Amino acid sequence: MTVDYELVGRQLDALIGDESDMLAISVNFVALLYTEIPDINWLGIYVLRNDELVLGPFQGLPACVHIPLGRGVCGTAAETAQPLRVDDVHAFAGHIACDPASRSELVVPLISRGRVFAVLDIDSPDASRFSGEDQEGVEELCRIFVRLLESTGQSLDEFI
Ligand code: SME
Repeated sequence: MTVDYELVGRQLDALIGDESDMLAISVNFVALLYTEIPDINWLGIYVLRNDELVLGPFQGLPACVHIPLGRGVCGTAAETAQPLRVDDVHAFAGHIACDPASRSELVVPLISRGRVFAVLDIDSPDASRFSGEDQEGVEELCRIFVRLLESTGQSLDEFI
């Protein structure tokens, strides 16, 4: 099933376009994406703090709280500042299995003023769940999300 990412982008703007609380923006961003993207079992934000990722707003089962930079899919995407789409997490050396049901994963670094301040992590119980089109769509939603956070005028160094 495909997702109309442009429509979700407009929903995002309508839902949180004039909100100034970064926590409220973030939890609604996560809730909207979790609702609109089918066949996933976890979606959330890990925030970069002192060279490690710390669990932020998410939907799904309780997850690991601390991920060192460079470890797992999330830590690797944060360290390289590049999105990572993993068709089979069992084949990814160093994958951190928070939920053994997860089979494929998409991680997009959230970047403001050239600095990674968090990552968005999406897990699916299906192998190869995420296509190139999904990756592009989610990357665009992340850019909208970052713009909404920046438009609050607050520093992302103190992001939630
Ligand atoms: N699988 C991730 C860890 C986070 S959980 O999936 C929620 C990783 O390897 O970084």
